[in-house]
Formats: sequence, C-alpha cells, structure tokens
Amino acid sequence: MFPSTMLASIIGGNGGPVKTRLAIERTPAITLDPPGSSAKVDASMQPYDWGVRALAQFELEVNGEVHRLDVPGEMPVLWALRDVLGLIGTKFGCGIALCGACTVHLDGVAARACVLSVAAAAGKAITTIEGLADGTELHPLQQAWIDLDVAQCGYCQSGQIMAAAALLAEQPAPTDADIDAAMAGNYCRCGTYNRIRAAIHSAARQMAGDEASAGLFYDATAEVRA
Ligand code: FES
Ligand code: FES
Repeated sequence: MFPSTMLASIIGGNGGPVKTRLAIERTPAITLDPPGSSAKVDASMQPYDWGVRALAQFELEVNGEVHRLDVPGEMPVLWALRDVLGLIGTKFGCGIALCGACTVHLDGVAARACVLSVAAAAGKAITTIEGLADGTELHPLQQAWIDLDVAQCGYCQSGQIMAAAALLAEQPAPTDADIDAAMAGNYCRCGTYNRIRAAIHSAARQMAGDEASAGLFYDATAEVRA
C-alpha cells in the first residue's frame, strides 16, 4: 500500500510536522538571487516577528479561489499558504530560494513561495500542489510519481512535481538535458533524481497520448548499463 505520507507529498494535504513559526524567527535577511527560479528575492524582506507588522488586506487567488487575507504585505506566500490558508502541501526547506521545496506556480510559472511576498503575488494566480489535479483526476505527473514510486521521504516532492509541471507546460517533450536544466534548482536529499527524470518522461508520453509506452516501471540499472 502507498504510505499516506508519500501520497501527501504528491497530492498535498497533511504532509508533515514542520514548525514554520520557529523557522521564521531564525531566517536571516535575504540577499541571494535564487538559481533556477523565476522568483526574484525581495531584498527588503525581513521575515521576523509578524506580530509588529502593519496588516493590510490582500486578495490572493490560490487554486482558482480568491482569499482575502489580513497579513503584512511582506509575508512570504509560503507562510500565507501554510499558516493562514492551511495548504501545507507546499514545504519549507531553506527559506532562501535555494532548495525548491516551496515551488508553486505564479501565473503558470514556477516560483519560490519562500521569497515571494504576498504583496507581489496579489492579483496573480497561484497554483499549489493541492490544485494541480483536475478534481479527482490526478495530473499525469502525479500519476507517474505514484506509478514509478518516485518519493522516498517525500519532503521535496511537491516542489519537484510543481517544477516538473511548469517544465511540461513549456516543453511538452523535454530531453534529459532539458529536465536536468529545469530541475537543477530542486534538491532531493534522498537522491531520487533518476526516478524524477523517468517520471517526467513518462508523464510527457502520457500527455502526448502515448499511453502504451508511458512506462509503469523504472529500471534502476538502465543508466548503469548504458
Ligand atoms: S524553502 Fe523555498 S527554495 Fe527552499
Ligand atoms: S524524497 Fe526525500 S528529500 Fe526528496
């Protein structure tokens, strides 16, 4: 049976006991530009103590639904998603745009929710892992992730899938090199990179209508033999 924690990393939902409030207090001021991310770091963002920040009302469109939030404008979208809206499928990893665990789509483009402010995202369409499926119909990437048993601990996988979905939207038939370049900014401490690549190819084939060769298994020895 597929473990529920693994499934949570692929479709969203209750994915883990990360205590983001503590992480906020330890996060340093941000000065880096994120590699492999379309999101630009807001250097003025000082993610400390939201309690003394002035609140404002922002409209965030998340997974097709508009939410009115009373939050500081500089609050990262990652916090708004997890702590305010309860969408915890998107994960906190580094908090400085380096690991990809927090990848969402902003107007269809992969973006790092940990360095994207609510003020910057207001008026744009955000899609999270919870909104990737079409109702009860999984996105082909989510199905491929399950079919090929991609996830190990699962922590990075919602970000990996969102990055892969943005890639396939732009390049429906990516090469290995395309995949490696697009996914280079998404780290997996369990080292599932080969299965991620195989699952992206499988989903691409399925999306192109080639169901027969969509690939229901991953041969871990293929690259060694090649
Ligand atoms: S948590 Fe956002 S890139 Fe690591
Ligand atoms: S599956 Fe564990 S970090 Fe990627």
